[in-house]
Amino acid sequence: MTVLGIETSCDETAAAVVEDGSKLRSNVIASSLAEHAKYGGVVPEIAARSHIQSILPVIRQALDEADSTWEDIDAIAVTRGPGLGGSLLIGVMTARSLAITRQKPLYAINHVEAHVYANFLLEKPPVFPLLALIVSGGHTQLVFFKDHSDYSVLGQTQDDAIGEAFDKVAKLLGLPYPGGPAISQLALKGHPDAYQLPQAKMSRYDFSFSGLKTAVLRQAQAAVGESYDFPSSKLSERLSEAQKADIAASFQQVAIATVVTKAKQAYHEFGPKSVVLAGGVAANQELRRQLTEAIPLPLSFPPVELCADNGAMVGALAGFKSQAGQPPADPYAVTPDPNLAM
Ligand code: KG4
Ligand code: ZN
Repeated sequence: MTVLGIETSCDETAAAVVEDGSKLRSNVIASSLAEHAKYGGVVPEIAARSHIQSILPVIRQALDEADSTWEDIDAIAVTRGPGLGGSLLIGVMTARSLAITRQKPLYAINHVEAHVYANFLLEKPPVFPLLALIVSGGHTQLVFFKDHSDYSVLGQTQDDAIGEAFDKVAKLLGLPYPGGPAISQLALKGHPDAYQLPQAKMSRYDFSFSGLKTAVLRQAQAAVGESYDFPSSKLSERLSEAQKADIAASFQQVAIATVVTKAKQAYHEFGPKSVVLAGGVAANQELRRQLTEAIPLPLSFPPVELCADNGAMVGALAGFKSQAGQPPADPYAVTPDPNLAM
């Protein structure tokens, strides 16, 4: 079962060829990141336009790099949501057109669920039941999978996603977008206990990061001797390099502790056989280190290029759906759903 996976939910235009949900034959990612960086975040209109320009060349390259022709492709899979409406639309419409004209079954895929499946492309894939900690720019969720497609969401963020918090704190410190990699680099030079920041107290497995972000702002204002109405856009000019590094390290420490504490609690309550990390923030080395320390099972996490958005995870999930006998979607009827829930 060879699947062409297509992903366009945010600013990455991606396509990959995946065999049987587990063997990666090609993985092509074109990002419009550089065009968004100067605005400090993803601009939906720019992302959508960039998908239009890149999607067909990216698909062509994914087929070429897999040494495949359309005859070798058994099915097409595409991210249906959640994500940016305009971005999703380009991927879904392209996939629908290809499925109809090339007469291939079409699988409509949930982006957040797909992130978990980057782990099934590893040499040693996870086993069920598995606990997944999904941490990205748009999502923070703990999900318990009994089997493929049989899962329950244990908890999720009630406001900002953890990656979003990294991005916002980075902006405050005058670091480039996306903020996660920049914060984690800067944190290496700072003291994680230099600033006392609060960990939100949420019920069971839910998360909250907006209070932490505000606490960082208040502490930064106090650090430069200003009150709460000092504009956040001017803070980075007034903070010393040492203060910035300490803020980055202290913020990262609390943000990671928040998700690691809940993941550990869920591990002990549900007793999974595998624990997997997924999503863009899974690239964070400190998160991997702390989670490995907290859980007495070998932690599964994808290589960096499969942590961020990609078509491989979409193709992998579709491969397992097909193996489980799930029917494909109607290619004339699939619509994008920006708010699609797991
Ligand atoms: O999964 P992803 O590529 O897109 C979404 O579906 O959201 O995740 C992007 C997010 C951004 O917020 C980025 O700052 C964060 O992942 N990120 C990191 C690191 N690398 C990327 N956060 C913390 N540490 C990192 N090393
Ligand atoms: Zn993502």
